[in-house]
Amino acid sequence: MYICLCYGVTHDDIRQSALNGASVEDIQDKFKAGKCCGCCMDEVKKIHCHAKNNICTNPLPKVA
Ligand code: FES
Repeated sequence: MYICLCYGVTHDDIRQSALNGASVEDIQDKFKAGKCCGCCMDEVKKIHCHAKNNICTNPLPKVA
């Protein structure tokens, strides 16, 4: 599933990078996610957080 439509970055791209030790900033640098319109950043951070099995401090609001 595409998360960053501007650069075609998928959920798996983000998750695998996080599991391999990448920070959110590393993912931005590698895939450019969030470096155009920026509207994907909340989701990028959420996926990264869940991949790291952390407690997310800024979860996205639920969409009905
Ligand atoms: S959707 Fe990711 S930068 Fe626009």
